[in-house]
Amino acid sequence: MNPNYPLGCWYVAATSDEVGSGLFGRKLLDRPVVLYRLESGQVVALADRCAHRGYPLSKGRLDGDLLVCGYHGLRYDTAGACVGVPSQPNVPYGVCVRAYPVREEPPFVWIWLGQPGTSSLHSPPKLPWLSGEGWSSSGETVCLAANYMLVHEHYLDLTHIPEVHPEAPDLDPRTVKPLSFGGRHAVTVPPGGEVVSDPVPIEGHHPSATSSDQAHPPTAQ
Ligand code: FES
Repeated sequence: MNPNYPLGCWYVAATSDEVGSGLFGRKLLDRPVVLYRLESGQVVALADRCAHRGYPLSKGRLDGDLLVCGYHGLRYDTAGACVGVPSQPNVPYGVCVRAYPVREEPPFVWIWLGQPGTSSLHSPPKLPWLSGEGWSSSGETVCLAANYMLVHEHYLDLTHIPEVHPEAPDLDPRTVKPLSFGGRHAVTVPPGGEVVSDPVPIEGHHPSATSSDQAHPPTAQ
């Protein structure tokens, strides 16, 4: 299948607590990526494939802020440049792996997998309902052997509810209102329920917007 991933946007690479003191490998939009924290706590993301023989860098180790490949010991800095080769005195010119822009905005670590040099033109979406007063949220990981955009479409198209969830309250698919994720609206969902109310503005936290949030940002699994 030809992947149809939109690349010009930020994706959730991990939750903040997934990136600890070690090396964390994850495939994002079919790209192997290794994430880790510098001694300062800042998160770094590099292509998880050594420039030498393709060994997964996530199976190597950290030496301070340098990532050391677990095969022949090439050492990479935070920009992905090779800065040391144990078996020879010099580093061949230009040896490097791609470094991806990362922004940590708890609870998420965001990554830019698109064209290098363009990440500063965009910002990760704001998710005020994850920490804003009057809101509660919950999260879970769902592993699906399918293109993630099918999942987005699934949750945006609520006309499937009467057929797939016959136990749900009686809903007329002709009158079910669509979710709105345009950055200006959220949806109220009663705890444990799937009944969708009118979208309400996020600005000012509408008084009725106090139920559990089930809106999720694009995740790159
Ligand atoms: S494959 Fe990484 S150092 Fe050889």
